[in-house]
Amino acid sequence: MDTAPDTAPVSPWTVAVLGPGGVGGLLAALLSRAGHRVICLAGEDTARTLSRDGIRVSSGRHGDFTARVEADTELREPVDLCLVTVKHTALDAALERVPPRFVRGFVLPLLNGVEHVAALRARYGTEQVVPAVIRVESTRTSAGVIEHGSPFTEIDVAGADADRLAPLAAVLDAAGVKTRTVADENAALWAKLAFLAPFALLTTRYRLPIGGIREEYPKELAALVEETTAVSRACGGPGDAAQVLARYDAFPAQSKSSMLRDAEAGRPLELDAIGGAVLRAAGRHGMDVPLATRLVAELGDGATAASAG
Ligand SMILES: NC(=O)c1ccc[n+]([C@@H]2O[C@H](COP(=O)([O-])OP(=O)(O)OC[C@H]3O[C@@H](n4cnc5c(N)ncnc54)[C@H](OP(=O)(O)O)[C@@H]3O)[C@@H](O)[C@H]2O)c1
Repeated sequence: MDTAPDTAPVSPWTVAVLGPGGVGGLLAALLSRAGHRVICLAGEDTARTLSRDGIRVSSGRHGDFTARVEADTELREPVDLCLVTVKHTALDAALERVPPRFVRGFVLPLLNGVEHVAALRARYGTEQVVPAVIRVESTRTSAGVIEHGSPFTEIDVAGADADRLAPLAAVLDAAGVKTRTVADENAALWAKLAFLAPFALLTTRYRLPIGGIREEYPKELAALVEETTAVSRACGGPGDAAQVLARYDAFPAQSKSSMLRDAEAGRPLELDAIGGAVLRAAGRHGMDVPLATRLVAELGDGATAASAG
């Protein structure tokens, strides 16, 4: 188990966390525990709860602890780092809470998908926004209560200037988040999306965990991975379909995508950010992705195996 780091980094940062949910709440608590000043940005009820109770984390990896954080409904001062950890479906509304004039350091979006980076850069500037991906399984069970289930919390931050990103990586690392700096942002974002999209689309469409998909829909799984890895290659990402399938084979049979968990809970799906982004990228490159197109359309119509009969 990884407990609190022994020493705080040289100088504490002021960090805003937009969307203190499964991902944001975990990182807010870890950064606060590491000695940074953390301001969570959320709706009124959540902000009040977090200001009063802090964030309680339950984690085999990071330990069980409660971290004090500040919380507000909007950012009112400059920060060194702003984590963007809302779901894509809430992004536009949430960004109203972060006026660009207060973003003087890094903006680190950890959403799944690829297209949010351009939207954030248009608002906050190209240099400020550092594309990144996170590998973690973390759930907000109620406001300020986080269950972290994965034995890892890993972030890849992407950018050609590794020296500029080094302090950011050091702050995250010292808080217990294993952080790598990678040069190629397209490779980083598409590696995640090409892997995630088939898992999300198929498990949600058929309301089955990965084991059920492997058993009942192996041809669709293989075909969809072929489509998404081909799009990834066209976009400058990795594209080894066999490698992606081998990773799915290693998943425990009961593994569910977060899109399936959202569907089961009746929450909005990140369908456009995940499936829609694959279709738009395919379109830009003149590629046919018939299976992805069908699944996105069916899910957009609200179809699931249960409701489609
Ligand atoms: N969770 C994971 O393990 C995981 C792993 C890898 C990647 N991701 C990606 O990370 C992103 C975040 O996922 P998540 O699971 O952390 O989502 P989540 O648990 O639903 O958290 C999102 C947070 O955003 C807040 N929010 C919604 N609208 C807001 C607004 N207008 N202003 C401020 N805050 C707002 C929500 O607050 P309320 O609850 O009060 O609505 C919630 O706390 C997604 O793109 C997801 O695909 C998640």
